[in-house]
Amino acid sequence: MINSVDYKKIVFFTGAGMSAESNVPTYRGKGGIWNKYNWEEYACQAAFDQDPEKVLKFHEIRRKAVLGCKPHSGHFVISELENTHPQVIIVTQNIDGMHQRAGSKNVIELHGSVWRLKCPKHDIFEDIGNAYRNYRCEKCGTWLRPDIVWFGDMLNHEVIQQAISAISTCDIFISIGTSGIVYPAAGFPEIAKNNGAFCIEINPEPSVISHIYDQNIRECASVALSQLFKDISI
Ligand code: OAD
Repeated sequence: MINSVDYKKIVFFTGAGMSAESNVPTYRGKGGIWNKYNWEEYACQAAFDQDPEKVLKFHEIRRKAVLGCKPHSGHFVISELENTHPQVIIVTQNIDGMHQRAGSKNVIELHGSVWRLKCPKHDIFEDIGNAYRNYRCEKCGTWLRPDIVWFGDMLNHEVIQQAISAISTCDIFISIGTSGIVYPAAGFPEIAKNNGAFCIEINPEPSVISHIYDQNIRECASVALSQLFKDISI
């Protein structure tokens, strides 16, 4: 169990396994999205350039699936902790907005959001719903691109800096449900560790970066979070 008052800054670092108990599919492993769909056809700029409508339709399938899911108790443990503790930051690789739906506010989205679109010439804007309101920009007619970091894309520099700044100054770092395969995010636990944070991994399975952590909790996110934060009532 963790007594949250013992820590000044708490960083949660979440991956697809955080949303798995909400029934949002993970990327890898059993039922993983990249086992069913070829990312080269759906999740890279080249695919979008070749067939934007096909890529947008794929993301609409994902939006619809996510809208049918609900945050689980683990999401609420984190959002409740945010209400009671002065410095809680969530650095997520997830694009599903599930933390925000549970009421979390301090969320750094490393890989973008399925709920935003961007026109390469104009704005980035929010678009929530089963289907996108428009496939093309109302101002210039250009295809709108999901504001998501796809394979081969650079991450947003400012977002990375925000994440690194939080991670390198936290005194406890809790990673939940990530396979630790996709960089630069997979390097974040090491940054926390090298800066003296106590590092915990929550994952029912070992990951390729399990050895970095001080503690490995082989439980699902909801169970592990309620055990770790027994003082948080939701
Ligand atoms: P992965 O699908 O690679 O890994 C999910 C991890 O969650 C695995 O290690 C599972 O063992 C674990 N897991 C499953 N159920 C869990 C549960 N109930 N509680 C806790 N852990 C559980 O997902 P990510 O590591 O998030 O990138 O993937 C990283 C990036 O790869 C994603 O952000 C995405 C993908 O390509 C982009 O879309 C840019």
